[in-house]
Amino acid sequence: MDIFEKVENNLGHLGQFANEGYGYYYFPKLEGEISSHMKFRGKPVLVWSLNNYLGLANHPEVRKADTEATRQWGLAAPMGARMMSGQTKYHEQLEHELAAFEKKESAYLLNYGYMGMVSIIDSLLDRRDVVVYDSESHACILDGLRLHIGKRFVYPHNDMEKFESQIKHARKAADETGGGLLVITEGVFGMPGDLGNLKGILQFKDKYGFRLLIDDAHGFGTMGKSGAGTSEEQGVMDGVDMYFGAFAKAMAGIGGFIATEKRIIKTLSYKMRSQIFAKSLPMPMVIGAMKRLELIQTRPELREKLWTIVRALQSGLREKGFDIGKTQSPVTPVFLQGGVSEATQIVADLRENFGIFCSVVIYPVVPKNVIMLRLIPTAAHSLEDVTQTISAFSEVSNNLNNGKYSTGGIPPVGDVY
Ligand SMILES: Cc1ncc(COP(=O)(O)O)c(C=O)c1O
Repeated sequence: MDIFEKVENNLGHLGQFANEGYGYYYFPKLEGEISSHMKFRGKPVLVWSLNNYLGLANHPEVRKADTEATRQWGLAAPMGARMMSGQTKYHEQLEHELAAFEKKESAYLLNYGYMGMVSIIDSLLDRRDVVVYDSESHACILDGLRLHIGKRFVYPHNDMEKFESQIKHARKAADETGGGLLVITEGVFGMPGDLGNLKGILQFKDKYGFRLLIDDAHGFGTMGKSGAGTSEEQGVMDGVDMYFGAFAKAMAGIGGFIATEKRIIKTLSYKMRSQIFAKSLPMPMVIGAMKRLELIQTRPELREKLWTIVRALQSGLREKGFDIGKTQSPVTPVFLQGGVSEATQIVADLRENFGIFCSVVIYPVVPKNVIMLRLIPTAAHSLEDVTQTISAFSEVSNNLNNGKYSTGGIPPVGDVY
C-alpha cells in the first residue's frame, strides 16, 4: 500500500464533499477589510462568521499599535524559542497583565491556543493521573488527551448527574494508581454557545478533590462584567484552577495564554513541548495584544455594543420561532431540519440572493437531518444588519418548509482544487 494512494481519496469526514464544495462551503475567500461587510466572489456580503467579537480587528488604536510595533520590530523578532533566545520584557509584561486581569498569580503565553492546550494537558499529566472531561470539548482538548496514557472519563455535555458518577469512578481510579484528578471543560462552548457549568462542577470539588482547567477561547473578552470570561460571569474565578484564553477571537490576534499559580507556570514553562520547541510569539503580536487587552479593560462600551447586537439577534430570531438552542453567549446557532443537500442550498441562497454569509455545520458535528447555521454577532455589526438577517432567515425558513430546497442537490458552485 502506497501512503499517497491511500490518502488521496480519503479526506476524512470533513472533506467528504470537497469536490463539490471547495472554494464555497470549504475554504471560501472573504475579501476586503475585516468587518461585518466584506466581499465574497466579487459580491458584497453581510458577514456573520468572524470571531471578531469586540470589533477590535480594525479598531484604529489596534491598527496603530500593530503598525507601530511592526515598524519598530519587524515580524522576525524575537528569534528563537522563549527558553533559548526568544524571551523579551514585552512577553513578560503581557503575561503580568493577563495574570492580573484573570486574578491569578501568573500567566504564560502560548503561540497558538490549540498547540498550547495540547501541551498544557501533556505537561500536567502522567500515566497515574485521571481526567474527566465534557463530551463536546474542543479538538485541542481531545488531542491533548490523546497524549495521555492514563485513564480518562467523559461525561455527556454539561450533564451534572453523569459528571458526578464519572468523577466518582475517576476518584477511585486515581486512588488505585496514586495519581491526581483533572477536570477539563470549555467556558463557552464554541458550537452551541452554552456555558460550561463551572458552578455545578465546582460543587463537587471538595468531595472528590480535583483541579479544574477551562478552555475559555470564546469567553475571554466577551463574558463577565469586566470581560475576564466565563469564570467571572459565573462568579467562580477562584475555583477555576487554570484559565486558558485565546487571542484569536475577542482579541482579534493570534496566540493565547494560560493563567494559574506561579509554581505551575514555572513547571509549564519547562515542559510545554509546543512552546519549548517552537519560536516565540512575534513582537507585534505581543505588543498588539497589550493594546487589545487595554481596550478590553478600559472600553466597556465595546462589550456593551456586542451584547446589544447579541440580544437583538437572539431575541429577534426567537420571536420568529427559530430554534437557537441553549446559547448563553454571543455564539448563535440556528437549527433547521434537513440534510446535506438542503443545507448547501440554504447557504447558497443566503449568499447569492440575500447577501448573507454565515457558516453551516452538518452531520456528524450535529445529528443527522439537522442543519446548524452559525452566526457570530460582533460589536462591528449594526441593528440594521440584524433586521436584514432576521428577515432573510424568515424567508429562507419559509422556503425550506415549502419544499423549495428539497429537489436540488449541492449547487455546483465549487472551484476546482
Ligand atoms: C474552544 C477553543 N479552544 C481553542 C481554540 C484554538 O485557538 P487557536 O486558534 O489560538 O489555536 C479554539 C479556536 O478555534 C477554540 O474555539
